Amino acid sequence: MGHTKSEFEALHAALDARARLRQWAEGAQVLDLLRAAAATGWLEALTRPVTVEHLAGIDGISTERARRVVEVFLAAGVVREAEAAAPAAFVLAEGFAALQAGPSGIRTDIALDAVGAAGDRVRSALSSSIRYDWREDALVVARDWGMLPSDASRALFGMAYAEVPDYRDRLAAGGPLLDVGSGVGGALLSTLTAYPALRAVGVERAGDVVKELRERAEDAGVDSRLEIRHTDAQELDDEAVYSVCYWAQAFFPQHTRETTLAAIRRALAPGGLLLVQELAPPADDLCSFLDALVADCRGVPPVVSAEDLAAELRTGGFTDVQVVPTPVGRLVLGRRGRGVPDQRRI
Ligand SMILES: C[S@@+](CC[C@H](N)C(=O)[O-])C[C@H]1O[C@@H](n2cnc3c(N)ncnc32)[C@H](O)[C@@H]1O
Repeated sequence: MGHTKSEFEALHAALDARARLRQWAEGAQVLDLLRAAAATGWLEALTRPVTVEHLAGIDGISTERARRVVEVFLAAGVVREAEAAAPAAFVLAEGFAALQAGPSGIRTDIALDAVGAAGDRVRSALSSSIRYDWREDALVVARDWGMLPSDASRALFGMAYAEVPDYRDRLAAGGPLLDVGSGVGGALLSTLTAYPALRAVGVERAGDVVKELRERAEDAGVDSRLEIRHTDAQELDDEAVYSVCYWAQAFFPQHTRETTLAAIRRALAPGGLLLVQELAPPADDLCSFLDALVADCRGVPPVVSAEDLAAELRTGGFTDVQVVPTPVGRLVLGRRGRGVPDQRRI
């Protein structure tokens, strides 16, 4: 045989690498199939038990092809076989049924748009000519985070507020609350509907996001207690007004953080409380590095730990800063001291 040991090893290594590449492709292909199923109406049809023949009839493909698609969705956990159905029928699995029905505001189309937008960022990562424009996918990102106000969302935020009783009591007493980086109002509208005496100001810089926030606030019946400001939070000029503030820090680019924090500190009344949340750290290294890359392409920092957030708040002049573990992740709470506010630093 003419081959050398190193050629043999190189062949093995190439086969290994190709197997990995194919493995990555599997997830992407399921996603493509899911997009196609959403576009053709399959996902809607699968909200009730349906046969493969019915699915095939939706877009005129063969029963054999429809069966193969269903096999993929079964193996991926997107659909399950309906119980006691004859002939055999299939229906969305529990999580995908909830995602498709979307009562929580967490919906298949929104989630697919959001992973698509993240993919666009990754594709542009090596291009020096593409500068990120935050307007491009602000609405997609805001929708992906913004759950609708409901008993379930109020229970979720309630689990967090239970661990910061001073903050919660101020919400219950009417605030006022300053919500910085409101998005489409996941936190803001759940909180306003949970505390009927609460008044709030929401600050959001993206016009299309503001429009959707206004619509959602009207739908939730809280618009009379909410003032929405379409502005960059760095431009806030309120002084010593708010009893509490929630800052969606994870979405604020590095170069805006110090000025935003200074504006929040000025806007809080002496003794006022600022609450921020640490985003959950990703499950593994690959996930973590991809998240960090997408964040970098968006100009925002990767996940900032609660300890680093605490340091950021202390540097920004907040006192009594504490990291608070809760069942829904770690929060960081800080207080605006009662001293004379800093000079403006813009
Ligand atoms: C995605 S939302 C976060 C989730 C939201 N708080 C909720 O609970 O649904 C964060 C928002 O902060 C906004 N944002 C980022 N930087 C901002 C700034 N400097 N001024 C105002 N809004 C900003 C983004 O446009 C984005 O819509």
